[in-house]
Amino acid sequence: MAFTFTDKYLKEFVTDFSLAAMTDEAKRAFDTVYSGSGAGADFLGWLRLPYDYDKEEVERIKKAAKKIQDTCDVFVVIGIGGSYLGARAAIEFVKGQSYNNKKKTTPDVYFVGNDISSSHLRDVLEICEGKDVCINVISKSGTTTEPAIAFRIFRDLLVKKYGSAANERIFVTTDKVKGALRPQSETLGYESFVVPDDIGGRYSVLSAVGLLPIAVAGIDVDEMLAGAKAAADKYSDGDIFSNDCMKYAALRNYFLRHGKSVEILAVNDPALTMTCEWWKQLFGESEGKDGKGLYPASAVYSTDLHSIGQFIQQGTRVMFETVINVNTEDGFAIEAEADNADGLNFLAGKTVNYVNQQAFLGTVLAHTDGNVPNISIELTSRTAFDFGYLVYFFELSCAISGYMLGINPFDQPGVEAYKKNMFALLGKPGYEENAKVLAGRIANIK
Ligand code: PA5
Repeated sequence: MAFTFTDKYLKEFVTDFSLAAMTDEAKRAFDTVYSGSGAGADFLGWLRLPYDYDKEEVERIKKAAKKIQDTCDVFVVIGIGGSYLGARAAIEFVKGQSYNNKKKTTPDVYFVGNDISSSHLRDVLEICEGKDVCINVISKSGTTTEPAIAFRIFRDLLVKKYGSAANERIFVTTDKVKGALRPQSETLGYESFVVPDDIGGRYSVLSAVGLLPIAVAGIDVDEMLAGAKAAADKYSDGDIFSNDCMKYAALRNYFLRHGKSVEILAVNDPALTMTCEWWKQLFGESEGKDGKGLYPASAVYSTDLHSIGQFIQQGTRVMFETVINVNTEDGFAIEAEADNADGLNFLAGKTVNYVNQQAFLGTVLAHTDGNVPNISIELTSRTAFDFGYLVYFFELSCAISGYMLGINPFDQPGVEAYKKNMFALLGKPGYEENAKVLAGRIANIK
């Protein structure tokens, strides 16, 4: 198995006795997830997704991906939050951050609609010039401002370029019946896929939300689902000492109760940068409510050891780390040089991965010396299967951890606050009262 979870670096921070004291609590939270008896249980579709996924839809996704691969150079994926992060994380996890710049037979994949930057939109429009383009707009509501703006712009590009044939290049992933995109899809004949009702955005990467862009990038979605199933099988029972999801959930809550307020997901391969972003949404949106939760941060090593590494080593002692050690030996070795001008010959014959492993170990030891507990996950490959496994591991851990924290891990009431203000400031109909209140507040800001 490419995935190993270990608490072996934690011995001086958490005793088995302390962990054992959380056994019943962790088991209760686990049972609450599995019995569907907790808050937000309407959104547990991800739990059995690796078994129950819509097989016919996955076949259609694979066919659509093939069509997209055959007909376009650039695939523009429009979505934000849960409708964006998972697909990008998966593509970079398996194919690396330089996917778009590599020689390949699959289209480049660009993500827009995940910010409100005109220069980002212009850049991707420019990239599309002279290229064949398809788009996938992913939005459950169809009304989220960022992707809605981007969809207008890119749909317009396609209509100008292809006329009525543009419709064959637009792929929609949205609610089965509701939302602004469903009627458009039906009227204009866009091929469409479903955002399941019982799966929230941050748990949706293994549904059509993530699978179409992932398949277009040439990644085996069956393998990804098989990885998730392997994790679902493995973590479906046990106790805090045999089930790593329960153990991870318990350890997170243990540290929160013992003075830690920040969890850093640290990775030692930039291919996992977006996996960190996906993880931050998963845990941040699931647990950060009712004045509770760990702040989910991330760091990419060794890059960040030359920046925020200083803070992690010696700054305010508020954090613990969950480190994903990517240990994929590919034999890429450092060669000896006759003059040894850089003094690096002591590494001659050693692989780059070997150096990365020593850096990882040295960092774990330094950080634990600096009173930063380290939970560790080791990955010996970065396949589609591994990504599916990792996703399921974190999703289940998050649900258990959220129930241990005493919150609903499946809602996100706080994200509406900025939207109400933004809509009022933009003059959206229906927000007139709030617009007046905000205008008064703004006038008083000196
Ligand atoms: O996790 C979530 O629910 C959010 O991040 C949503 O996915 C995000 O706000 C996008 O919403 P929608 O898919 O309706 O455009």
